Amino acid sequence: MARGFFITFEGGEGAGKSTQIERLAMKMRAKKYDVLVSREPGGSPGAEAVRHVLLSGAAEPFGPKMEALLFAAARSDHVEQVIRPAVERGTVVLCDRFMDSSRVYQGVTGNIDPAFMDALEQVAINGMVPDMTLIFDIDPIEGLRRATARRGAEDGPDRYEKETLAIHQRRRDAFLAIAAAEPERCIVIDASSDQDTVEHVVTAAVFAALEARAPAHSKQVAPA
Ligand code: TYD
Repeated sequence: MARGFFITFEGGEGAGKSTQIERLAMKMRAKKYDVLVSREPGGSPGAEAVRHVLLSGAAEPFGPKMEALLFAAARSDHVEQVIRPAVERGTVVLCDRFMDSSRVYQGVTGNIDPAFMDALEQVAINGMVPDMTLIFDIDPIEGLRRATARRGAEDGPDRYEKETLAIHQRRRDAFLAIAAAEPERCIVIDASSDQDTVEHVVTAAVFAALEARAPAHSKQVAPA
């Protein structure tokens, strides 16, 4: 069976990743690709159990290193239980956040030693580097406005949304720095445009990458 393809979607709060992942998955399924949509933290039963601990803020008092270890534990389970088996059986996996979120949220804005973060990343992903990463870029003021509108004013911000604008700005810069450092893996998407424009850009980038990849591909050709 041909290997699948692993695409991750990254960026700050309210960038519209989830909507775009759903739209892309629909388009791909219409073209008979075998697609799996997943997310982090979470995506496997073990990782979903850790998700609540992280997003409720229950782990926050124990410090960013503890949170980084929990994200890594969740990621390792998600990779081994879900992502790797899917890619090995030829599926295209679309994942809402992955290792770059840890690099940015825990590493950069958690001020964790880069060597510690590198070691943790290697253990967590165990070689499962994304084939392609779309970095959704948006001004954090607009992103946070969208995130608030999406959840409704009565529900408060989560563990990470509630942080200061300066922190969200550092995250934006850190995601852009990753894209600049790894241009063969990362594409920056201007997420400030309207959803249809973003969809168009995302679809074009992903289909171009799928068509350009080495002979192995997971597209199932419909019987004539
Ligand atoms: P979530 O509500 O799933 O979604 P969104 O991607 O729309 O923000 O929130 C996940 C939060 O967890 C988000 O604030 C980023 C944070 N996060 C990290 O800090 N490190 C990580 O490794 C991951 C995967 C997420």
